[in-house]
Amino acid sequence: MIFQKTNYIKGEVTVPGDKSISHRAVMFGALSKGKTEITNFLQGADCLSTIDCFRRLGIRIENQTDKITVYGKGLDGLSAPSSLLDAGNSGTTVRLISGILAAQRFETTLTGDASIQKRPMLRVIEPLTMMGARIESLNGNHCAPLRITGASLKGIHYHSNISSAQVKSAILLAGLYADGPTSVTEPSASRNHSELMLRTFGADIHTVNNTATIYPRPSLEGQRLHVPGDISSAAYFIAAGLLVPGADLLIRNVGINPTRDGILKVAKAMGADIALLNQKQEGEPTADLHVTYHPLHGTTIGGDIIPTLIDELPIIAIMAAAAKGITVIKDAAELKVKESNRIDVMVKNLSAMGCDITATEDGMIIHGKDPDACPLHGAVIHAHNDHRIAMSFAIASLIAEGETDITDSECVAISYPEFYKDLRKLCGQSGS
Ligand code: S3P
Repeated sequence: MIFQKTNYIKGEVTVPGDKSISHRAVMFGALSKGKTEITNFLQGADCLSTIDCFRRLGIRIENQTDKITVYGKGLDGLSAPSSLLDAGNSGTTVRLISGILAAQRFETTLTGDASIQKRPMLRVIEPLTMMGARIESLNGNHCAPLRITGASLKGIHYHSNISSAQVKSAILLAGLYADGPTSVTEPSASRNHSELMLRTFGADIHTVNNTATIYPRPSLEGQRLHVPGDISSAAYFIAAGLLVPGADLLIRNVGINPTRDGILKVAKAMGADIALLNQKQEGEPTADLHVTYHPLHGTTIGGDIIPTLIDELPIIAIMAAAAKGITVIKDAAELKVKESNRIDVMVKNLSAMGCDITATEDGMIIHGKDPDACPLHGAVIHAHNDHRIAMSFAIASLIAEGETDITDSECVAISYPEFYKDLRKLCGQSGS
C-alpha cells in the first residue's frame, strides 16, 4: 500500500478496544460461572483466535459485533477439543491459555502461525513444569506446537528474570487450580490487567511491589465488562499528532493504566504536552487524549519504564527519528522476540528512509533530525507481517518526502483492522 506525506491531520478518533484486555475478558469469562458480556471488544484477528480456542474447548461464545457474550462454565467446565487449538499470530493466546490447559483433565495441542512457531515458550514451559504441568514442544525447540497434558498442580513462588505479563498471567491462571497459593515476582512491573480483571471476577489475588499472589479455587462469577480503547493503538495517532505540523487530534476513551502509559511519559520527556481530558475509572482508568503538534527532542528510555511501553517502541523510534538530538532505547532486548525482531526490522526500515539509526544488543540509538529539516524520505518498507511495524511506518510516511510503499500492510488486521480508514479520515481523505 502506498502512503504520501501530509500537511493536514485533524479531528477525533476512537481507537478499538484494548487487545490485552479483550483476550482476558473472554478467557476469564469462560472460567467463570454464568454469562459474561463484553462491549468494545477488539475484533482483531488475535482476539478472534482466543474466541476460536475457547469455542473448541466447549464454551459457547456469541459474537454480535457490538457485544460478545461468553457462557462460562466455571473453572472445571472446559472440555477436550476434537482438534488442534490454533492461536494464529497471538502470543498472548498461546501463553495465557497454556497456564489454563496445564491444569485440565485432558490433553491439548496448541499451535499458531509461522511467527508463533518461532517465539520462545520456555518462559512459560519452565514455571508451569515446576508447578507439575506436562508440556512438550513437539519440534523440540521450546516453541509451539505444544502438547499440554493436564495434571495436578502445586503452588509455587516463581522469580521471573523477565518482566512479562504473559508469563505472569500464565502462572497466575495455573495458580487458580493449584494446591496452594502461587506467586510471581518480576524485575519490574508488567501490565496488571490480569490481576485487576481476575479480582473483578472474584479471584483472591493481590500485589505487593512486583509480586502478585493468587489463591486457588475461587468461585468466579460472570461479569459485564467494557473494554477501554487500546493505548497501543492510540500510540500511532499520538505520534502523528506530535509529528505533523499543525496537527490537532482528540483520541477518545483510551486506557491509561499506569502499567501501560509509558508512551505518555516518553512524549513528555521529548518535550510534548498531551492533555488528559475527561478522566474516568471504571475498573481500568481511561481518558481522552488531546495531542497537538510539538517539536520533539531526543531522550533516553530504559529501566522500569520499558515494560510499560514495550509495544510502543517501534512508533517511539519513529518519533525519535524526527526529534532533535539523540534517542537511546536500552534494556529492551525483548523487542527481538516479538511478532518480528523489532530491533532489526526498525533499523532496516528506518535506515531505508534515511534515518541514522544503529542497533544495539538491547535496543537502538537514533540520531534524530530537526523536524523542520524533513527528517525522512519515502522507501519500500517490509513490515515482516508485524502489525506494529506496518502502523509505525504508515505514520512515518506522513512526514517523509516522496512515496512510502508498505508491502505487507494488511497485517494491521491483527490489532486494528480499520487503522488505514481511520488514518485517512483524519488526514482529510476519503476514508475508504
Ligand atoms: C501482552 C504482554 C506483552 C505485550 C503483548 C501483550 C499481554 O508481552 O508485548 O503485546 O497481553 O499480556 P510480554 O508479556 O511478552 O512482555
